[in-house]
Amino acid sequence: MATKEARPPAPHGPAPARLRVLVLSGPNLQLLGAREPEIYGHETLAGVHARLRARAKELGVQITARQSNHEGKLCDWIGAARGKFDGILLNAAAYTHTSLALFDALKAVAVPCVEVHLSNPEAREAYRHASTIAPACVAKVSGFGADSYVLALEGLVRWLARRPR
Ligand code: DQA
Repeated sequence: MATKEARPPAPHGPAPARLRVLVLSGPNLQLLGAREPEIYGHETLAGVHARLRARAKELGVQITARQSNHEGKLCDWIGAARGKFDGILLNAAAYTHTSLALFDALKAVAVPCVEVHLSNPEAREAYRHASTIAPACVAKVSGFGADSYVLALEGLVRWLARRPR
């Protein structure tokens, strides 16, 4: 009697889950493109996000990109990231240099975060040299203009691939 053959196992097993990355930009970065272009370049934040999405697609990463001028809003988004995102790219803009609240939020959720800057704050005014959030981040990418976001994404993906579990 003919029996129904069991379905053979999928040749490559289940598809690996896509990495989910939250991209946060802080105060005044909605003005990118018009804001001090000699420092921050001519690309808009929408343009930066579009370029990031294109690279993310190649890397198989799912991007959620947000901007706020409000420290509490950024804290809310970081606070809700646990379990929803594998990593964070954070350009906290001026809050980089002042915000204990953002540092605490990153420590609280323990989602790996890369600090991002378009400019190189350490080569600028002294009040930009210190980062309050750096000790809560796994790495920092700065000084490459809009490319900083893309390079930070590539670095984060590599970091996640070899992260200690
Ligand atoms: C910035 C650098 C900060 O010092 C500054 O306050 C910003 C932008 C950057 O991307 O270069 O707003 O984070």
